[in-house]
Amino acid sequence: MLKILILFVLSVCSVFGYFTLPGDCPKNVPVKEEFRLASFLEKWYQTHYYSTDGQKLNNCSVIQWETTRTGIYLNQSRVDRGLFHRYTIGKLEIPPRIEDAARLNVSFTFPDAPRRLTVRRYPFYVLATNYNYYATVYTCEYSPLIDKHFIYVWILSRHQILNDVSKELAIKPLSALRIDPKNLVKDDLSKCSPKYFEDMQAEPMTFRYPVPIH
Ligand SMILES: *[C@@H]1O[C@H](CO)[C@@H](O)[C@H](O)[C@H]1NC(C)=O
Ligand SMILES: *[C@@H]1O[C@H](CO)[C@@H](O)[C@H](O)[C@H]1NC(C)=O
Ligand SMILES: *[C@@H]1O[C@H](CO)[C@@H](O)[C@H](O)[C@H]1NC(C)=O
Repeated sequence: MLKILILFVLSVCSVFGYFTLPGDCPKNVPVKEEFRLASFLEKWYQTHYYSTDGQKLNNCSVIQWETTRTGIYLNQSRVDRGLFHRYTIGKLEIPPRIEDAARLNVSFTFPDAPRRLTVRRYPFYVLATNYNYYATVYTCEYSPLIDKHFIYVWILSRHQILNDVSKELAIKPLSALRIDPKNLVKDDLSKCSPKYFEDMQAEPMTFRYPVPIH
């Protein structure tokens, strides 16, 4: 019994550890105006990122949009812990209101997970982009259970290297989120042939899921 209790406490702590900022997600985060989704598709490299829980889990992150008959899908691939090439497929939810065009959501489906956790939806807001060079994307998740939130920011580039001018523009939206650009982590896109290649969907590592309370 004690063992089970300890295991439970450990797993709850590790889940809660992701949520480090007090209160709910920031309201009214300014997003890209007159966002054109069609110009935002295709492939992006993550050159830098920011994660409020400070976790550094992967390199070689690439985002690739695929359009199929059933919708638009996001393929997030990366190298986890320098060893495993993995990917996650999410479905894009297109906002119905034109003024919300940049407030995208992506949802991930895990058929084998417990029922409450099968579909997970996350915001995927485009804060800035010029479509041809850079994009800044943001997600935030709130855990009502502990009243804290988690933020992740992607600095994306059409090329493996982000030029200085584009980087300046890409990090501009960070000030509205009170994120110091010094805390951005550089993604290493140079060693992307890891030992293991996993050809099945894995957990998305850039989002954090709060324990649901019902
Ligand atoms: C996702 O992208 C990775 C890297 O490009 C690729 O290896 C993988 O096959 C893709 N997965 C799907 C289902 O398209
Ligand atoms: C990412 O790459 C950097 C630089 O090569 C390395 O120091 C770091 O350990 C890598 N991180 C992971 C999670 O593989
Ligand atoms: C995105 O998710 C939020 C919160 O679940 C929801 O309020 C909003 O309507 C969703 N937007 C789309 C386009 O599905």
